[in-house]
Amino acid sequence: MSVPIVTTVARLREIVAAWRRDSARIAVVPTMGALHEGHLSLVRAALERADRVIVTLFVNPKQFNSQADLAAYPRTEDEDAAKLAPLGAHLLYAPDGFEMYPDGFATTVAVNGVSEELCGAFRPGHFQGVATVVTKLFLQTGAGLAFFGEKDFQQLHVVRRLARDLDIPIEVVACPTVREADGLAMSSRNLRLSSQQRQAAPKLAEILFETAERLATGLAAEDVLAEARQAILSAGYREVEYLELRAEDDLSLLEEAGRPARLLVAAWLGDIRLIDNVTIRPK
Ligand code: PAF
Repeated sequence: MSVPIVTTVARLREIVAAWRRDSARIAVVPTMGALHEGHLSLVRAALERADRVIVTLFVNPKQFNSQADLAAYPRTEDEDAAKLAPLGAHLLYAPDGFEMYPDGFATTVAVNGVSEELCGAFRPGHFQGVATVVTKLFLQTGAGLAFFGEKDFQQLHVVRRLARDLDIPIEVVACPTVREADGLAMSSRNLRLSSQQRQAAPKLAEILFETAERLATGLAAEDVLAEARQAILSAGYREVEYLELRAEDDLSLLEEAGRPARLLVAAWLGDIRLIDNVTIRPK
């Protein structure tokens, strides 16, 4: 069994229209490919809630800050399709750049506020790129459900905000981060780690979980986070872009975990930028 691949909006719309005539509940799982177990967990979750699941594969140039990063992003479409088939996904929608952004394309979706800090502060334009393509994918697929991983926690907030603000009738479903056995959060970027970097990489999650434990006891974040930053650098990371305690519901900055919170990090291991986050339930 293989999963049908569709590359044009017109064909996608025909198929979706037929599904709708049968009153099918339609879900979308947006991806940039290089599928790993994290993506597959989203597809499984989608299959539990929907009659038809569309996985999208589009390496979106608008959300990359550098040409080098875009060029280095892994592209494994055949393997991706092979991974989806046994799960029972119904369609792989893989448009090319011209289909997604035809000549004259001039619209940008910008989600103010929530896009501006954390990753947004270090990757100017990134969330506009994400918001623009996700809006298009929601409108192109007409799905009633969309599945996103909590690993990109800020992205989840951006996507929820845009769906609400633009009255797009879609439920955004968050799924837990999937980790390797050693704790490293799964990411398509992990494919680019050298074997030495791969050994150092899980330290980030380890430090994050330990720090979350400490913060859950109500300790002031400032000192705890300063120690954690140092620990990340000592583990071989070359730079910590941010390590912040934020409220789970609105991402506001917290000085202590007095309410449900997330500890979020972005750090560079060599030339690879990794992000992760863990939840904190105050004790
Ligand atoms: O999380 C991702 O892989 C991307 O940001 C997304 C949501 C597919 C948009 O390009």
